[in-house]
Amino acid sequence: MEHLFTSPLVFVILLQIVPSVPVSVFTTAPIVEVRENKDAELSCEFKTERDEHPRIEWKKTRGTRSSSPDFVYFEGEFRKSFKGRAHMDGATIKLKRVTQEDAGEYRCEVSAATDTVQLGEANITIIVLVPPQTPSCEIPSRVLTGAVVEMHCREPHGVPAATYTWYKDNKALRPSFNATYTINPHTGVLMFTSVTKADTGQYHCEARNKAGPPKSCEGVHVKIDDLNVPAIIAGVVVVCLVIALCVFGACYAHRHGFFSRHRGR
Ligand SMILES: *[C@@H]1O[C@H](CO)[C@@H](O)[C@H](O)[C@H]1NC(C)=O
Ligand SMILES: *[C@@H]1O[C@H](CO)[C@@H](O)[C@H](O)[C@H]1NC(C)=O
Repeated sequence: MEHLFTSPLVFVILLQIVPSVPVSVFTTAPIVEVRENKDAELSCEFKTERDEHPRIEWKKTRGTRSSSPDFVYFEGEFRKSFKGRAHMDGATIKLKRVTQEDAGEYRCEVSAATDTVQLGEANITIIVLVPPQTPSCEIPSRVLTGAVVEMHCREPHGVPAATYTWYKDNKALRPSFNATYTINPHTGVLMFTSVTKADTGQYHCEARNKAGPPKSCEGVHVKIDDLNVPAIIAGVVVVCLVIALCVFGACYAHRHGFFSRHRGR
């Protein structure tokens, strides 16, 4: 039966035999992007052959709490969270005050019992747009010249996923082939393979998407120090001196019999 209908020739012949089209269902907007608290329209249009009052059902097929589909509209009534904030216009749902819970996939099913093709369906996805929140940033305040430095910027809430811009002293850092850094606008990672003193400055990051105003994290002043060789040598000398003193002290104590006297008791 299925390959009969998919064959174009047979379809053309059928169209000539059948006086009008059997139930056909379509949507004018398969993807609905909507901000929270705004209204959404889930369009579902249908044409039937004979049946004037086909059965209309709406299910939420993905984005439900359980793995099975949820009824949205069944036996002429809206169900659960859709009660009282949705109304039906033909087979199209007008939904008020959309929440993040409404995001997911929906299916409009129209069944016309007396038609030759009895069931038609259309899928509609609701994407609830969420503006970015303040991103969390990982920026070191002190690093040594020559070090590998990675700065991170994260904003997990935005829908669609936020993209990131890094700023140094309030100037946006742009990718460039002679830059000392690389930027990934999708992961929010700013990476220096070898920082130089010229990279010293105030850094911050901004997360943005099309759902609302961009948000920035607080800037951090990054201080880049040279590796201080004299200080390191001085440090090593002090540590050696302390070790030498300890060893000397232990030998002195041993020679004067402190340990053996303790052990004797
Ligand atoms: C709707 O989506 C289901 C899977 O969730 C798929 O099996 C079906 O073919 C789709 N229907 C249409 C008309 O695209
Ligand atoms: C990159 O090169 C341009 C000129 O080719 C120069 O003006 C700019 O300062 C360079 N940037 C860096 C970070 O070295």
